[in-house]
Amino acid sequence: MPATSHDTMTMTGRARLIAAARSQPVDTTPVWYMRQAGRCLPEYRALRARHPFMEVARTPELAVEATLMPVERFGVDGAVLFADIMLPLDGMGVPFRIEPKVGPVIDNPIRTRADVERIVIADADEATGYVMDALRLLRRELGDRAAALGFSGAPFTLACYLVEGHGSREYPRAKALMYGDPETWHLLMGKLTEVVTRYLRAQIAAGADAVQLFDSWLGLLGTETYAEFVQPYTARIFADLRGLAPTIHFSTGTTHLLDGIAATGPDLVSVDWRLPIDAAWDRLAPGQGIQGNLDPTLLMGGWDVTRRAADDILRRTAGRPGHIFNLGHGILPETDPAVLEALTGHVHGGALHP
Ligand code: CP3
Repeated sequence: MPATSHDTMTMTGRARLIAAARSQPVDTTPVWYMRQAGRCLPEYRALRARHPFMEVARTPELAVEATLMPVERFGVDGAVLFADIMLPLDGMGVPFRIEPKVGPVIDNPIRTRADVERIVIADADEATGYVMDALRLLRRELGDRAAALGFSGAPFTLACYLVEGHGSREYPRAKALMYGDPETWHLLMGKLTEVVTRYLRAQIAAGADAVQLFDSWLGLLGTETYAEFVQPYTARIFADLRGLAPTIHFSTGTTHLLDGIAATGPDLVSVDWRLPIDAAWDRLAPGQGIQGNLDPTLLMGGWDVTRRAADDILRRTAGRPGHIFNLGHGILPETDPAVLEALTGHVHGGALHP
């Protein structure tokens, strides 16, 4: 397996990732992995054996410790803050918990107009000051080794959890509210858009070099429904953040929505493995970058299949500015960390950047 550092690397990880996010030239392809902070790392499991999830998230020193683990072990160019997409709920007056192996749970879900009206739009620095403190600490500890990446759940994915009360395959209650009571839906989406915008603005002010909007359940929608009930809100967030820091849109299973997603105006679109990366790139707006798109299950097939798939991605992107190498979705817990370490070195040593 290859080493993780190469003589041809002249940029810092931070500079490399930020340049790619702005579609500027780089010395080699920057790389990070969704859900890299946790899941497959034994040092993360040891930390979690001592502290519950929300304690790690709400204690800046612990959150930064978890954030740095994959930077140290894999040599990635992006350090995604240890946090969760649900944290903005802290300021909204909606209690939630994160259950191991289950995910987010909300005991009193949002179901009526009165529930939506009660949602608080708070100041992000007050409501989630611990996230901003963690980012400030991360920025200091990280130096230029890697870019500090902030993130939030997108309004639609947050609405899915808020209405359903927990994770689900189809989010039937959330979709029923959307179709059956569009006025309440739009009120909810408007409020969530304001919360998410404030939250991401505060993260950028606290030192995030780029921010990613996770719209994990977007693939449940058809093209027309997306355009009517979700797209305008996403577009509003990216318009508001324009010029502050590069933005990344994330979703999976959304090949049918790619044109609409591109039109919301993020600097990069994260795509999954359902389309070859060059075919997906053709569907984006001119000058828009791409993040992706290795199938995370491939990594469990061992190093040889992983290397071949990574080479195929690098061949298809061919050194074109604006590519950040990543998985199409999060790392699976069973993944061997040694494969991720080798993959990072392999992408950095990319055949296309001799
Ligand atoms: O990339 C990273 O590792 C940084 C931190 C991060 C977490 N969650 C930590 C976490 C990020 C970026 C997320 C995003 C997130 N959280 C998403 C969007 C990404 C996606 O997969 O589509 C979603 C949908 C959530 C909600 C959520 N939180 C789920 C579905 C779960 C899974 C429960 C489980 O045990 O797998 C969580 C919990 C969670 N968030 C864990 C971590 C490290 C595991 C909890 C633990 O350590 O016990």
